[in-house]
Amino acid sequence: MRGIILAGGSATRLRPCTKIASKQLLPVYNRPMIYYPLNTLIKAGIKEILIIVAPERAGDYLNLLGSGKEFGVKFTYEIQDQPKGLAEAFMIGENFIDQESVCMILGDNIFEDDFSKEIINFKSGGKVFAKAVPDPERFGVVEVDDNFKAISIVEKPKEPKSNLALTGLYIFDSRVVGFAKEAKPSARGELEITELQNRYLKLNELEVVKVEGEWIDAGTFDSLLKAQNFVKEKMQDKMVI
Ligand code: DAU
Repeated sequence: MRGIILAGGSATRLRPCTKIASKQLLPVYNRPMIYYPLNTLIKAGIKEILIIVAPERAGDYLNLLGSGKEFGVKFTYEIQDQPKGLAEAFMIGENFIDQESVCMILGDNIFEDDFSKEIINFKSGGKVFAKAVPDPERFGVVEVDDNFKAISIVEKPKEPKSNLALTGLYIFDSRVVGFAKEAKPSARGELEITELQNRYLKLNELEVVKVEGEWIDAGTFDSLLKAQNFVKEKMQDKMVI
């Protein structure tokens, strides 16, 4: 299993803090934000990790994270020239993924859970991770049946069919690269991750897993503040880096 951390984007919601610094390098209590998604991958035993960054911030990531030796893993870096959408990560990562399965995590997503089992047991298809939230319209939303099987997936729906947000953790087999290449930009001009999830859903090969612990998308000032407090109180003993 290969790992990808997507840490590009322009983070306009966190201006002016992100005018001179990458969002995913801002401190979340006592570590840079990216340490938390990195911790999630390393804990699950993933050894080869691609970090995708925006061109103007690439040097900062190299300075902070280096080769990966310090963490017992190997980092590869790629540039995303423009934030064209989450699905583009799989095209940027085509050579890195090769014929392997891939676990992608967003650089601003902080999870309390340990996903080792889900990652190690993955065989093929797609696996997504859902969490009940009070404001599902801000996220990709999955509607499920009584057996927690996906019925529909919609990106930021005005009228959500459920309160289950799709979190920024995704496991796909290597077919995802081809699916990403076939994706068309959405109305907001992005290659949406939900389009890829829908490809697997149509093939009846998408598994939805419930996130039990806390999950924070730290992309706004309020969620960043929540993340700071949560990390201080609950995450310290869950960190291996
Ligand atoms: O956090 C989970 C949500 O993430 C999912 O529920 C949605 O389905 C998914 O589309 C995404 O929604 P966001 O509105 O949070 O996406 P955002 O544009 O904020 O991008 C998420 C992260 O990925 C952010 O840290 C920046 C980075 N990014 C984003 C884009 C569009 C990139 O590195 N490159 C990009 O092209």
